[in-house]
Amino acid sequence: MTHRISVRNAAVDDVEAIYTLLEPFAEKNIILARDRDNLYQHLQEFLVAEYDGVLCGVVAVHIYGENLAEIRSLVVSPEFQKHGVGRLLVEGCEKWLAVLGVARVFALTYVTGFFERMGFAVVSRESLPQKVWTVCVHCARFADCDEIAVEKRLSDAPIQPMRILPILEIDEP
Ligand SMILES: CC(C)(COP(=O)(O)OP(=O)(O)OC[C@H]1O[C@@H](n2cnc3c(N)ncnc32)[C@H](O)[C@@H]1OP(=O)(O)O)[C@@H](O)C(=O)NCCC(=O)NCCS
Repeated sequence: MTHRISVRNAAVDDVEAIYTLLEPFAEKNIILARDRDNLYQHLQEFLVAEYDGVLCGVVAVHIYGENLAEIRSLVVSPEFQKHGVGRLLVEGCEKWLAVLGVARVFALTYVTGFFERMGFAVVSRESLPQKVWTVCVHCARFADCDEIAVEKRLSDAPIQPMRILPILEIDEP
């Protein structure tokens, strides 16, 4: 029997499930904690994965500037790990960033092996711009952070802006 794994943009109805997925990992300081308000406020950054229609994974992309974005809040529910869901979420981020025209993406992580499988390379944390660290002051591990920076350069292909809304067009008389 085949199973379908799919990735899509998140919607407000997903917030409770996203919160439930992230919370145990935030408690262990593997990812930054987010309350429900924070999830609603940043919902446009989130993608979710479904396995046979069950929401089982989440990721966010945060854009820092003209050519730099971060993969954040990447979690796959433990019972769905090692089935390719994490890979599809990262590929979803890469496609989303290509649409937006961002060509460099990084993550701060403890799972370098996973990101290396996704084509990322370990880089020095000092190579990231200062503003990346502004969010880190909210982290319990700020004083003795041991996360590793990984980075990937995405294609420099021309941007293909995408229509998300139903097409809005008028012919001016
Ligand atoms: C890291 C995580 C997102 C990976 O998700 P996943 O769905 O299990 O990953 P996939 O099944 O898509 O794995 C893709 C590839 O990475 C490898 N991989 C997965 N987890 C790995 C790990 N921890 N270390 C090394 N390689 C790993 C897989 O073996 C697979 O390799 P392949 O291409 O040879 O088949 C998931 O384990 C998770 O949610 N972990 C806890 C939260 C966390 O650490 N998030 C990262 C925050 S930056």
